[in-house]
Amino acid sequence: MVVVIMNASVWTNNSNVTEFNSLQQDIKTNVLIIGGGLAGILCAYMLKQAGVEYTLVEADRICSGITKNTTAKITSQHGLIYDKLIRKFDTEAARLYLQANEEALNKYKELCHNIDCDFEIKDAYTYTLEDNNKIEKEIAALKETGYAAQREDMLSLPFTVTGAVKFPNQAQFNPLKFIASIVKELNIYERTTVRELIGTTAVTDYGKITADKIIVATHFPFINKHGSYFLKMYQHRSYVIALENATDVNGMYVDEAKKGMSFRNYENLLLIGGGDHRTGKKGGNFEELESFAKQHYPNAQIKYRWATQDCMTLDGIAYIGRYSARTTNMYVATGFNKWGMTSSMVSAMLLCDLVQGKENPYEKVFSPSRTILRPQLAVNGFEAVVNLLTPTFKRCPHLGCALKWNPIEHTWDCPCHGSRFTKEGQLIDNPATSDLKIKN
Ligand code: FES
Repeated sequence: MVVVIMNASVWTNNSNVTEFNSLQQDIKTNVLIIGGGLAGILCAYMLKQAGVEYTLVEADRICSGITKNTTAKITSQHGLIYDKLIRKFDTEAARLYLQANEEALNKYKELCHNIDCDFEIKDAYTYTLEDNNKIEKEIAALKETGYAAQREDMLSLPFTVTGAVKFPNQAQFNPLKFIASIVKELNIYERTTVRELIGTTAVTDYGKITADKIIVATHFPFINKHGSYFLKMYQHRSYVIALENATDVNGMYVDEAKKGMSFRNYENLLLIGGGDHRTGKKGGNFEELESFAKQHYPNAQIKYRWATQDCMTLDGIAYIGRYSARTTNMYVATGFNKWGMTSSMVSAMLLCDLVQGKENPYEKVFSPSRTILRPQLAVNGFEAVVNLLTPTFKRCPHLGCALKWNPIEHTWDCPCHGSRFTKEGQLIDNPATSDLKIKN
């Protein structure tokens, strides 16, 4: 296997996203959106369509964070989630979750019709290598919600599966080409960091933004004193390689197992995802993907490889809605649990209604104020206690946890909530908002 690696995602190659100026004066706006990833940009787009005045600010360049590292699968099939949702909540919650994501998928189909973004209709599959029962249960759960999912036993993958659930007519695209097209007319300031929020006034380095309402779309929310997101979420790291000279799998595939793999094609490349682990912990990394590729595609070449990071919630549903029960005029979109494409669109549709004071049928399902009494809460609490008590000089500026050296990517990673820093201490991933002070 010849390895020709570009350590960047395939989307960043040839991407041509408009640059925007930074804020240089005080302004007023109706809705301030903080964060220029896909969720924030779609919120801006929807608000513009609805005739609501808004401003979006991004601390760096738009799409410089997680959005550029997605595998860009647009599907309402989020692993084997529907059986879990019925057991954790009820059939109605599962039905609403499905409906919200179907609406998101359809919105992409409508928008992408006229956009050159390599949009393709593809079937989505979640497969298992182990327990056939899980497939049967998921199909039964979907039937309860009114969705006729199909079972498949033979997939175009280079190994045998026990069974799979198929969602026909889902989609995939090039996310940066899509964004490059929709951002052109939007009101955006780049390289504009919000240093502080005083009520709904945002303080940046060169101007204040007085807003009526604020949407926080910063991947991991950066305001700690409300919403307890540091208890409700952790981050998960995963890896992608893009192979040339591999097969066309003609669909989008994901293993139901937590540490399983995912597959899709883009142009002449096969994208394989996997190697997952909690940020700051050990996992399969690129090595796992590369040895899989060597075994199953010995004549292929690795053209790109990159890593990504996802916010994981306590119950598998994103947090979209009011930032907390106590705050007014502040909204959030976070915790997409690896399903960022449809979750971003659901965020935009839901928050666009909420900021206008309109009712939305999905408000309750995605409410960030829903119960936190889930087993994952104890796991998050345990990690926080252990890492707060671990003695080391390298402490995370977010809430003080001990940082772990990541020898694969040469970064300092925080196991508590997933902040990451370069070897020199420069902030890469939030929720930390400042660089690391390295003492030698
Ligand atoms: Fe929260 Fe490090 S990310 S303590």
